[in-house]
Amino acid sequence: MGARGKSRSGILITFEGVEGSGKTTQLRRLATLLRQDGYRVVETREPGGTPVAERIREVLLSTPGKHPATESMTAACEVHLILAARSQHVTHVIEPALQAGSIVLCDRFSDSTFAYQGYGRGLDLAALQEMNRLATGGLEPDLTLLFEIPVATGLARRRKFALEQNRLDHEAHEFHEKVRKGFLALAARAPQRIKKIDGLPHPETVTVGVTSVIQAFLTKARTKRLTTVMHTQRMRPHRRS
Ligand SMILES: Nc1ncnc2c1ncn2[C@@H]1O[C@H](COP(=O)(O)OP(=O)(O)OP(=O)(O)O)[C@@H](O)[C@H]1O
Ligand SMILES: [Mg+2]
Repeated sequence: MGARGKSRSGILITFEGVEGSGKTTQLRRLATLLRQDGYRVVETREPGGTPVAERIREVLLSTPGKHPATESMTAACEVHLILAARSQHVTHVIEPALQAGSIVLCDRFSDSTFAYQGYGRGLDLAALQEMNRLATGGLEPDLTLLFEIPVATGLARRRKFALEQNRLDHEAHEFHEKVRKGFLALAARAPQRIKKIDGLPHPETVTVGVTSVIQAFLTKARTKRLTTVMHTQRMRPHRRS
């Protein structure tokens, strides 16, 4: 946990994985379940989460030929934009929510930067970590859920459900494969924080995996008195009806 993270009472849980791995779907489902159990929950996403950061997101995700014109984006430009957005997001949304004792569920965060810009684009990981620290002030997630699916499945899901195609959808398969492997390498380096979840089954089955990880985390946090978001009621296991 980073310097800024020490004094706060909330919990930061981040959702990571390749395109179409089910992050947004599972984040929404978990938010509903936690609220039903009496927790105060803030749902947010990266890049984005504040007005300024959402404008940066538009620049980052717009497809070539739409905007900005036909100019390709360099990896350095991309990472600076992402970190600029993160700084706004951490300062104006995440930190205040954590100080207020909320559970913050964030759709992508620092690990995406390391996976996409580090492992995917080949930028130096140590440099990225240093730059990221400047953007986050040292804030790190308490728990990260990594949804694992093959790259082709995720991209096919996005096409099947006709989700708006973005700049990253046009990247080569090998790029996404490097990103997937990057996420796995990050998980291997931080097994306590990053929990892998099989994203292939039916969404309700994936949610069972999510709730079991969350329950274990909350129980441990409660025992260690790591946080004050603790709620008297235990989270009910989510089962298919
Ligand atoms: N377990 C699942 N099985 C089949 N389809 C799924 C599953 N989870 C999500 N989907 C569908 O796949 C699509 C992508 O899911 P979702 O948007 O949750 O993924 P994501 O990881 O947030 O993607 P992105 O990286 O593009 O933001 C959605 O249309 C969603 O309804
Ligand atoms: Mg999503």
